Amino acid sequence: MSDTEIGAGAELPRFPEGFLLGVATASYQIEGAVAEDGRTPSIWDTFSHTPGKVRHGDNGDVAADHYHRMPQDVALMKQLGLQAYRFSLAWPRIQPGGRGPVNVKGLDFYSRLVDELLEAGIQPVATLYHWDLPQELENAGGWTTRATSEAFGRYADVVAEALGDRIRSWTTLNEPWCSAYLGYCSGVHAPGRESQAASLAAVHHLNLGHGLAVQAVRAAHADASCSITHNLHVIRPADPHSPEDVDIVRRLDALGNRAFLGPELEGAYPSDLLADTAAITDWSFVRDGDLEQIHQPLDLLGINYYTTSTARKWDGVTDRNREDGHMVATQPPWPGPDDVDFVREPGPHTQMGWRVEPAGLTELLVRTAKDYPGLPLMVTENGAAYPDIVAPDGQVHDGDRVDYVRRHLGAVRDAIDAGADVRGYLLWSLLDNFEWAWGYERRFGIVHVDYETQQRTLKDSGRFYAEVIRAHARD
Ligand code: FCB
Repeated sequence: MSDTEIGAGAELPRFPEGFLLGVATASYQIEGAVAEDGRTPSIWDTFSHTPGKVRHGDNGDVAADHYHRMPQDVALMKQLGLQAYRFSLAWPRIQPGGRGPVNVKGLDFYSRLVDELLEAGIQPVATLYHWDLPQELENAGGWTTRATSEAFGRYADVVAEALGDRIRSWTTLNEPWCSAYLGYCSGVHAPGRESQAASLAAVHHLNLGHGLAVQAVRAAHADASCSITHNLHVIRPADPHSPEDVDIVRRLDALGNRAFLGPELEGAYPSDLLADTAAITDWSFVRDGDLEQIHQPLDLLGINYYTTSTARKWDGVTDRNREDGHMVATQPPWPGPDDVDFVREPGPHTQMGWRVEPAGLTELLVRTAKDYPGLPLMVTENGAAYPDIVAPDGQVHDGDRVDYVRRHLGAVRDAIDAGADVRGYLLWSLLDNFEWAWGYERRFGIVHVDYETQQRTLKDSGRFYAEVIRAHARD
């Protein structure tokens, strides 16, 4: 299929001047080379090598081998016309063990990446932490301890000092919701702990780490653009007329959204969150002065959006152990009483079991813009997994993904038309990659990766996206 055929048919979504169209990836999911040039293990190395944690026993040892193929991958990005590339830096490459001296070889990889990107005319958007915590820090308590927040602030300083002359856009944390609750409460992500109290301590120390990192980046480069990326949840009550369902949604909104946005953007934890969780923790890990450290002015808020959820009070009978994306868990993924039931939403669904619901993205962007006026937004991840196959013609005809991306771009456009200040859209993901607990079974790329040969094949969705970007660049 030619580019024009893919772009044809429906009108391409159009965006304001200066709007950035790009893609996102994350270090552990694509780099491989886990023991090279001084990198030490992260919690994801340990977790993925623990039997039973990741589907098919997959791990990130090789992944998409991006560490060795970076120049070719950037060339591919250039070929697609990408305007921005969001990547994450692996803390254990840069500061093995999480503290102490800088590993020049590790830092150098990112320095070369940034040079390649700038040379290709692609804006780097750097995420300091996308879940690969140095294992040594986890051994000392991980995100449940203040020492990790402080170490993160120092690591941010090291990176900003070294790369801040060329990187303007910084994101501190990717989806701390996942780090805290999937990592420390349900245990389906690394480090695989199952403690409600630990997960709430992790929430606070991630927030604190964010605040310290923003200060470190700004101290190194006063004109840096600082942000954080959240997977903000669009949660709907199964029955909007049921006070019980409505209250479940309020509780999940407090844990999932306001536990982060409250301290980061308003300087306080929501009082209902503290009350809801009083039986789990007294929050005494929040020390005097912490909230001031966390509450730093931000230049942008990153939003990752994939789907919506619908919740109700559990009737105590329904089997909730569905294979439903991140909701697979032996323990409730959200701390609190075990009375939440996530209802299976109407289709179509992606391979993750996530409902395709572009209107949820519009709703989220418009609501966030209204709640935090003056704070520009960016969609820092959005995309879909489908069981792609390489067809006999050597191509990957991922029409479902083309449709998903087209409709979500339209949803972003709708949000802009409704007044939300959205500055860009970064598609997840450039390459098929290690999809955490799902291993290599779930493919999110607009570029197919053959994991045997590491051959890259542009999917139809990649061609479509390139066409969208070309049209935008012409506007
Ligand atoms: C997000 C993660 C990203 C990727 C997508 C599918 O939660 O940030 O790494 O796994 O989901």
